[in-house]
Amino acid sequence: MSDQLTVYLNGRYVPYSQALIPVEDRAFLFADGIYEVVRCYGGRPFHLDRHYERLCRSARALELPLPLDEAAFAGIVAELLERNNLQEATVYLQVTRGAAPRRHQIPQGLEPNVVAIARPVQSPSEEEVRRGVSVITVPDTRWGLCWIKTVGLLPNVLARRQAEKEGAFDAVFVRDGLVTEATSSNVFCVIDGVVYTHPLANILPGITRAVVLEILAELGIPCREEAVPLEWFREADEIFLTGTVLEVMGVARVDGRTVGEGRSGPLTLRVWEAFRRRCAS
Ligand code: PDD
Repeated sequence: MSDQLTVYLNGRYVPYSQALIPVEDRAFLFADGIYEVVRCYGGRPFHLDRHYERLCRSARALELPLPLDEAAFAGIVAELLERNNLQEATVYLQVTRGAAPRRHQIPQGLEPNVVAIARPVQSPSEEEVRRGVSVITVPDTRWGLCWIKTVGLLPNVLARRQAEKEGAFDAVFVRDGLVTEATSSNVFCVIDGVVYTHPLANILPGITRAVVLEILAELGIPCREEAVPLEWFREADEIFLTGTVLEVMGVARVDGRTVGEGRSGPLTLRVWEAFRRRCAS
């Protein structure tokens, strides 16, 4: 499947098999790189400006000179969709520090490597969303800079593996007894009609999270950006996850216990419907 793909590498569009990165690229050696995943609906990127802004923040945090402006980012996304004949797609864009002999000090004047890949994707169906998913909770073993979108995702990958082994869809991280986020999505829960989500402190500031906060405000649903203790979370009336690929997905079970009616709750479905309208507009 990948053979057919045209990908972007450092200013050129090349067949997948010809998109090669040197073995001493610092993302390979040190996870010294950042990324974004942009969802495209009907050939149009969803909130590309917000993704670019977050990419800039990640780059600044790593003192990584970003070799593309927003127009270039938009151009790459458009070109990849065009060349790969895609409408419903994700575009993964990664910027690495570049290649140099392995040493911990950051070498000056490196040429960053920029790669971008578009892949077809489908939104979860209404049936899947209504059914909801199961999650487990795991200790948040990640570092203190989770707001930087780096490619250093091994704790997330291992937590996801743990979920898979336990027959769950995903794992939700718990830090100091408080729910933070899931391995590749943000987490919301509903308790007595109020929606809670972790504040923007050492979590990934999700673009979908921000859109959902806007939707909640529009719908007049009370919402607090407050961390929720695990005990409350397990007893929540509703739980949902938000992410670029997942969109808005209800949680039916936590650690094997049923959430609400054991399927996506009414508030979750209202938010999902409003979110889908935004994707379509
Ligand atoms: N992940 N939290 C984490 C840890 C994430 O990795 C992501 C996104 C999110 C949701 O952010 P957004 O709404 O901007 O997608 C929250 C992407 C999709 C990924 O790694 O593939």
